[in-house]
Amino acid sequence: MDEWEQYFAENPAPRGYDVSCAQLEAFCQLHVNRNPIALVTSGGTTVPFERNTVRYVDNFSAGTRGAASTEYFLAHGYAVIFLHREKSVTPFLRHLDPRFLLDALQEVPGGLLQLSSVHSSQRVKSESRLLWLTFQTLSDYLWLLRAATQCLQQRAPKALLYLAAAVSDFYIPQDKMAEHKIQSGAGPLTVTLHLVPKMLSPLVSVWGPELFVVSFKLETDEKKLIEKATGSLRKYKHDLVIGNLLQTRREEVTFVTEKESSLLRLMEHQKAEKTEIEKLIVEEVVTRHRNFIKY
Ligand code: PMT
Repeated sequence: MDEWEQYFAENPAPRGYDVSCAQLEAFCQLHVNRNPIALVTSGGTTVPFERNTVRYVDNFSAGTRGAASTEYFLAHGYAVIFLHREKSVTPFLRHLDPRFLLDALQEVPGGLLQLSSVHSSQRVKSESRLLWLTFQTLSDYLWLLRAATQCLQQRAPKALLYLAAAVSDFYIPQDKMAEHKIQSGAGPLTVTLHLVPKMLSPLVSVWGPELFVVSFKLETDEKKLIEKATGSLRKYKHDLVIGNLLQTRREEVTFVTEKESSLLRLMEHQKAEKTEIEKLIVEEVVTRHRNFIKY
């Protein structure tokens, strides 16, 4: 058994998994001959310390990249499966400042409040092309990622995977995990985190070999970024790696393919106009995906 198969054998599917699979199936069937389909993953995965979880290790990501990109994919006519971390940034709602939330609501007959038409029109237009799926833990994420990939491979084999989530490389296996809250009375805590199998490998070669796969690579050391992005591409043989540095991720990214690497950076006037880098990223990805579909 491969390491990744072992992982799924040892970690149970998330609650509501069958419902999520049925939703994926219905969504893919509905859109396959109507719209291009993209799976966007977004937010960081958690790794629980206890089965009845009180504490966990988190992966850095607010979910801004995934949420913003989802809006732009929808604007390009895509149907989007938005697989995101619970309570991370979400499309459309991210524009509402909680301090002014009440301004976005209007009273309707019967004393009810609803989102005003200005705020809801864009959302409603895209609603039928957006499937919301959530995860919390690493294991939830991997189960749903596999299900979505396999479903797309079967129903829409030219679909796009846009893997912007930040996924843990370390975890505590089920059989090593405490059942209940770990007590501090026992003194300092030593935890051994095990390596998570690299899931891009089966994703590209087994679950979705015909899909257009775009992964993101986050680094903090500029010197390592291109080397790591190129390494990832060579290893997994997917279509595109988008490298970004933690410090500059909102202003620039680097597209790395087998043939070239090119920098995409917001220009000064774009920054002044508050253009989001995701707008440029998605435009470029959509162009490449369209070329891929033609072949
Ligand atoms: O959400 P924001 O705050 O806007 O930030 C966006 C972002 C910086 C999180 C995003 O742009 C980004 O870079 N996401 C990827 C983060 C990252 O480098 O993750 P990683 O090194 O854990 O994974 C890299 C790739 O390997 C990913 O495609 C991942 O799916 C894959 N991976 C990771 C772990 C694992 N066990 N198996 C994998 O296959």
